[in-house]
Amino acid sequence: MNVVILAAGQGKRMRSALPKVLHPLGGIPLLAHVIEQARQLDPVRIVVVYGHGGEQVPDAFKDQPDLLFARQSQQLGTGHAVQQALPHLDRAHPVLVLYGDVPLTRASTLERMRLVDDNQVKLLTVKIDDPTGYGRILRNSKDAVIGVVEEKDANDKQRQIREVNTGILCVPGMKLGQWLADIDNDNAQGEYYLPDVIRLAVADKVPVITEQPDEIWETLGVNSKSQLAQLERIHQFEIARSLLEAGVTLLDPSRLDVRGELGCGVDVTIDVGCVFEGTVKLADGVSVGPHCVIRNATIGAGTRVEAFSHIDGARVGARARIGPYARLRPDAALADEVHIGNFVEVKASTLGARSKANHLAYVGDSVVGRDVNIGAGTITCNYDGANKHRTVIEDDVHIGSDVQLVAPVKVGKGSTVGAGTTVWQDVPPGGLVVNPKQQQHRAGWQRPKKGK
Ligand code: UD1
Ligand code: CA
Repeated sequence: MNVVILAAGQGKRMRSALPKVLHPLGGIPLLAHVIEQARQLDPVRIVVVYGHGGEQVPDAFKDQPDLLFARQSQQLGTGHAVQQALPHLDRAHPVLVLYGDVPLTRASTLERMRLVDDNQVKLLTVKIDDPTGYGRILRNSKDAVIGVVEEKDANDKQRQIREVNTGILCVPGMKLGQWLADIDNDNAQGEYYLPDVIRLAVADKVPVITEQPDEIWETLGVNSKSQLAQLERIHQFEIARSLLEAGVTLLDPSRLDVRGELGCGVDVTIDVGCVFEGTVKLADGVSVGPHCVIRNATIGAGTRVEAFSHIDGARVGARARIGPYARLRPDAALADEVHIGNFVEVKASTLGARSKANHLAYVGDSVVGRDVNIGAGTITCNYDGANKHRTVIEDDVHIGSDVQLVAPVKVGKGSTVGAGTTVWQDVPPGGLVVNPKQQQHRAGWQRPKKGK
């Protein structure tokens, strides 16, 4: 089939300069969710009808060559919008219409919308307690659908109808062009209504079949920030539910946010308030403490990430200990059993097995061997104000507290760096390096006193 996604509307009630369909849900634009659903149907064409916000909508997807875009320069109605897509469609196939602001429809629901043959139309409907604002489904005495009436055109009796049009429909491509051409705008809103194709199908004796989604929220649209927030919660709860089903322990499924793909092994535990972004993989037995932010990262089996840690673009080995309050930045690669403690920042550095930096340190642009101990307050001075330089710390080095390693510099295998040392020059293997300093004691020295 073909899929047409309507996304030309302004979304006035969002009160935003960003076109409505570009507002993020679960970390990606609303429209990206709908495009993903469309792709799962393996369609012959995906055509996005855009309009408000100029080229922002096609620009946001310009790296995705399977998408076609049709501009609707004036929003004259949903029927008119689909008409703009016609030249791009392969009309030997049915046409499914989706909405760029209805992000949570399940693939299984859309599968049901496929036409069995070219002599039928399918319409997705739901029964709801408060149908205000929706088009109502009109049925005859034999319960067959005969049309859709918009709220503003409906009489009092029609407004009582609780079965409503979700907007999603599927029409034979061969019939669509003619039906769209036959729609007029002689109605309360002066718009070309897409649901008028239902009436035209009935007139052409084409049966109209209604399908229902599993959940009503699958058909909810976003018109305001408040609705966006509601759908975000539904989306997050669905993610939490599937993680729980897969055996992940979530201390509170309502306090988890996944904005991307989170893959978990067995016996993974995630405490409250964590945010996962991009692609994150947690291997077997990983535990993540409360309030961690983890983005595009891989965490090895049995590793514990303690509270308030921030991991971005890093790889962590097995049985490691990270945090609390650790920061791993892009291209930090930690081997097994590494310990990174509180207020330690690691950037673009590799650390070998069992190496530790437990307190207050900065390790940047460094290659650190195995069994290295980096003392509190140690800093790699990787930046000279113009360029970044590398620090190499070989296996089994012990670095005391408050050491500055002025890169480029290399600390040889098995050596020890005394506390408070500034290392300017390469250190040979073994032995101790210190900067000679003298401790003085001035007896009788007086502390300064406050003036009056
Ligand atoms: C539409 C249906 C209504 C249904 C409801 C479900 C029509 C006439 N009515 O009403 O039966 O119950 O959806 O939510 O279709 N759009 C364009 N170009 C346009 C007009 C609209 O791209 O010229 C897009 C909008 O951006 C929006 C969608 O189509 O995403 C629906 O348009 P809207 O005007 O909101 O229709 P509703 O009044 O909600
Ligand atoms: Ca709407």
